[in-house]
Amino acid sequence: MSGRLVMPTRILIVGSGGREHALAWKLSVEPGVNTVFVAPGNDAMAEEPRVRRLPDVDPLDGGAVVAAGRAVAAELVVIGPEAPLAAGVGDALGTAGSAVFGPGAAAARIESSKAFCHEVASAAGVPMARSGAFESAEEAGAFARDLAAEGRGIVVKADGLAAGKGVTVCDTPEQALPAIEVAAAAGRVVVEERLDGREASLIALCDGRDALALPIARDHKRLGDGDTGPNTGGMGAYSPVPDLPDAAADDLIDRFHRPILAELARRGTPFRGALYAGLMLTAEGPVLLECNARFGDPETQAILPRLAVPLGPLLLAAAGGRLLEAARPLGLAGARLPVLPIATVGIVLAAAGYPDAPRRDDAIEGLDRARAAGALVFHGGTARDDAGSYRTAGGRILTVVGRGPDVAVARAEAEAAVDLVAFHGVQRRHDIGADAVPLEAAR
Ligand code: AMP
Ligand code: GLY
Repeated sequence: MSGRLVMPTRILIVGSGGREHALAWKLSVEPGVNTVFVAPGNDAMAEEPRVRRLPDVDPLDGGAVVAAGRAVAAELVVIGPEAPLAAGVGDALGTAGSAVFGPGAAAARIESSKAFCHEVASAAGVPMARSGAFESAEEAGAFARDLAAEGRGIVVKADGLAAGKGVTVCDTPEQALPAIEVAAAAGRVVVEERLDGREASLIALCDGRDALALPIARDHKRLGDGDTGPNTGGMGAYSPVPDLPDAAADDLIDRFHRPILAELARRGTPFRGALYAGLMLTAEGPVLLECNARFGDPETQAILPRLAVPLGPLLLAAAGGRLLEAARPLGLAGARLPVLPIATVGIVLAAAGYPDAPRRDDAIEGLDRARAAGALVFHGGTARDDAGSYRTAGGRILTVVGRGPDVAVARAEAEAAVDLVAFHGVQRRHDIGADAVPLEAAR
């Protein structure tokens, strides 16, 4: 097998959001692919050529996912969201002998417990914000007061999974105490020093030991323009990031991903899957804000259209622990996968009431027009009604992606296409990619 790309012909993707739609869109047109199955998927994914839905599979039930993979003779299973990873679906597939791209629950704790992420990063020598993990609101409050006394800002996080919504970035120390009460009521609470800077997401394909970088992207976590309002799962992303060009990934993979992979392997829980480093680019250099054990959403929707190589064989090779050997014939640039010379901007359209209480079942207009305008339209939270029209059925409804020779052109295309789509109470940002200027120019 050495140096040969093995193309999976039948792939099962677990999940049903915009990220999984982008994965299905990319994988289904790759050479040698016969069918991409999505469990449970959504109605729009099934409209892609060679994509089939398995709507009755519970993505959190390892036994059901194993059975589905067997029933469709999948050669590779790709797990999209964090919840199935944390629930051990990767372990169930591994035990059943399936090739699975996605870590087991023990390695996925790098995302599912923020305290564990700090512990691993510290052992691996990877810089993170100063932090403490507390069982009681009193102790957490005392730590927050100490940070405030030093003139530091405070961030309060629920320790467990919260779909990007368990984080409160406090503008004043007074805001920290109520946020600590809320987080502590749900379990352990992590209090961190607030860092300043621009953010970037660097996601690497990992085979337990080695890592290859996907293009760097920038997400926009706050709900409102100008980074205002509550944190969300992500309201839009663009790539490349002019103040952190793709080539920076070689060094960042050495400083962040490889040490974390080595530490997880040392603990007997090697990480095979997509390791996502959320970085804050501070004046003192990049600092790790969080790790995710999966592809980002909406980063994936912006990243995959830039990838110049087939993804399926790389995911299969990573699942089998032989990523570098398989990737070499593709012509790597350092630790980076080859990319197309284009930029992308993805804008998320979220439901009224998101992130707290998304409103459902509103009719969505203009999807065909947005596609006809040249944009990619990935569905995250939609369902087709009896008349065949799409309606809202989730929090983040769509990601509309524009492409162009640079971020400004891609942004104009995305904006023009988004303006063609409408549903009641739609929430979206108007500044995704607007800050895409080299750092010298931004200062
Ligand atoms: P996390 O889920 O830990 O990545 O946090 C979600 C978002 O909260 C990040 O993308 C940042 O925008 C913000 N955030 C998290 N931790 C910090 C921190 N220590 N300093 C400043 N902002 C942070
Ligand atoms: N966009 C951030 C995440 O996927 O967690």
